[in-house]
Amino acid sequence: MATVLVASNRGPVSYVLGEDGSLDARRGGGGLVSGLSSVSSQDTLWVCAALGEGDREAVRRGTGEPGVRMLDIDPEVYADAYDGIANSVLWFLHHHLYDIPREPVFDAEFRRRWDSYRTYNRAFAGALAAEAAEGAAVLVQDYHLALVPGLLRELRPDLRIAHFTHTPWASPPYLRMLPDGVREELLWGMLGADELGFHTREWASAFLGCADFATASGTASPGSPGGDGRRRVTHRRRTGPERTTRIGAYPLGVDGEELRRLAHRREVDERLARLQEEVGGRRTIVRVDRTELSKNILRGLRAYRELLVVHPEWRDRVVHLASAYPSRQDLDAYRTYTAAVTELADEINAEFGTADWQPVLVSVEDDFTRSLAAYRLADVALVNPVRDGMNLVAKEIPVVSELGCALVLSREAGAHAELGEDALTVNPFDVSETAEALHTALSMSSTERADRTKRLAVAATSLPPQRWFLDQLEALRG
Ligand code: G6P
Repeated sequence: MATVLVASNRGPVSYVLGEDGSLDARRGGGGLVSGLSSVSSQDTLWVCAALGEGDREAVRRGTGEPGVRMLDIDPEVYADAYDGIANSVLWFLHHHLYDIPREPVFDAEFRRRWDSYRTYNRAFAGALAAEAAEGAAVLVQDYHLALVPGLLRELRPDLRIAHFTHTPWASPPYLRMLPDGVREELLWGMLGADELGFHTREWASAFLGCADFATASGTASPGSPGGDGRRRVTHRRRTGPERTTRIGAYPLGVDGEELRRLAHRREVDERLARLQEEVGGRRTIVRVDRTELSKNILRGLRAYRELLVVHPEWRDRVVHLASAYPSRQDLDAYRTYTAAVTELADEINAEFGTADWQPVLVSVEDDFTRSLAAYRLADVALVNPVRDGMNLVAKEIPVVSELGCALVLSREAGAHAELGEDALTVNPFDVSETAEALHTALSMSSTERADRTKRLAVAATSLPPQRWFLDQLEALRG
């Protein structure tokens, strides 16, 4: 039985099924993986979903990695829960992405999918309940598993349960768009936890604003901060005892040493040399994102175009390196968005490009080596999401950039709370302001840039994943 359990949709390992029937295990990276590695592995268990055929086959063969339990959830239920609810509804609510005249529409199809989301959350709660030792600490991750804390508490009241949201949390009027019963079910799911973690105080406050209701299902009301400065929500379901959930902000940072090591491997050096050739000694504006609709890549490109119009002195003196990793390509909205990014970049290249200058170099490959090489080369980093839980790219680029980079940063990114002072802050909807910020960033003296970058790198690495994870574990056990 495990004493520390982590639950997340995507696990730390995935399997690829070879044509000869072999299974190849690929280990992933990320904050949670390094966070959990700081706890003795004997007592830990990671519960995640089997995502593809390879994962499902590994479950069937019972050949999984030790310390990881993959759940083979019915593929249709999974697709409804992951694509239909987590990525199409909860992601849109938390990032305020709806095109309101048309969406959202909460009809019978939505309710059918919500039922699958519930089933998928139940599968996690059941597995955690079966694997956890008496009094174990369970750390549930993200919007995919928002119902798990409540479901798990019913099964195992002895457990200490935390939930961490890696995205923003929807503002109260936005969450109110959900049908009342669904909204309350979501909130009761979250309030099943002892501890709720968010990247910033702003997202924690948004949750507190939503967890303030008195309805037929029960009452919830945020109280004033306790002695530890953390806020609490006191709640009572129609039948059941009064309980309290603590709400905390745990901003995730980067492991500077590890990142620098990765960025200086030989393959990155080689990629850097090739990029330098393409850039041809010009200045660089670098951005790296998954093509998620919240990343605001289109307005970023528009701002770059406006820079070239309003400040033509930059023509032929700058190159915009944009990496847009494919993300969630099963969803039409994501595919259309990725296509629009490439199209707009092509337009800019056609409008301003010359025989030996291509203004935008876009890569839509999942190519971490190229991204690290671009980080090293960055004179300016552009991070302009419309709303973002944290945004680790904003923290990674200053740590890796060689000559120091000026950071143009959206005030709506969680990272802004820590990096705002040394960044050039922009309203992500204001394309002209972003264009001006790019101009200021490109014009900044090298001393000022280097000074700011040093401070940005210190802030970015002050709460590395291990610390972030242990702080939450301590708070939960506290
Ligand atoms: C982003 C978000 C995380 C989320 C992840 C899921 O990175 O910041 O909050 O868990 O996406 O991505 P996936 O590829 O598994 O849908």
